[in-house]
Amino acid sequence: MLITFEGIDGAGKSTQIKKLLESLSAEGREVLALREPGGSEVAEKIRSILLESRHEITPIGELLLFSASRAEIVQEVIKPALATGKTVILDRFFDSTTAYQGYGRGINLELLQSIIAISTCGTVPDITFYLDIEPEEAAARKFSQPSLPLAFESDELDRMERSGVAFYHKVRQGYLDIISRNKERFISIDALLPEMVIHRQIMAMLAKRFPA
Ligand code: TYD
Repeated sequence: MLITFEGIDGAGKSTQIKKLLESLSAEGREVLALREPGGSEVAEKIRSILLESRHEITPIGELLLFSASRAEIVQEVIKPALATGKTVILDRFFDSTTAYQGYGRGINLELLQSIIAISTCGTVPDITFYLDIEPEEAAARKFSQPSLPLAFESDELDRMERSGVAFYHKVRQGYLDIISRNKERFISIDALLPEMVIHRQIMAMLAKRFPA
């Protein structure tokens, strides 16, 4: 089974993935958790170009780099793991590309679809948990302070995070549009709920959708 997590930066995906990994492993399932971009040696190198670079990258260059990283882990890691019956949890997958490169950077959505089809070899998650948060809240969380415009310009941010608050509003709106078109696959959760409440909702939804 392929489970993916989506949401803007600061939504709390990593915390929930850690908890889910622990709970599913405790149930005796074989689980693999990976992050995108990254997850294999080559994909981690592409990740550092994308996130650590101090230089500009064109929107198309960015799209192709995210897609190259994805093609690597789909073929090298995800498909083989799914084929042996493992549960794979992914911190971001192609919905991030649609939200960030499509809605955020403005790349044509049809063009995106064909590149996504190539990079994923048609792999689609069984279920996607979307953690919803306003960009202002996400920034305040990250910096434990409400001074948003400053937070978005901080040196502590990676290349994507330096894109600014208007960009993140477009990305969030993108996610909301994607969800409205894929209601059967997405579960949307309020990211401001307490961590354990979110975790319990995720576990309950998995039990309901995929009874053992
Ligand atoms: P990461 O540190 O993993 O962010 P987070 O912890 O919030 O998930 O960095 C991934 C960044 O790359 C994040 O800003 C989202 C962005 N991204 C894209 O723009 N397109 C993509 O296809 C993917 C997978 C990520």
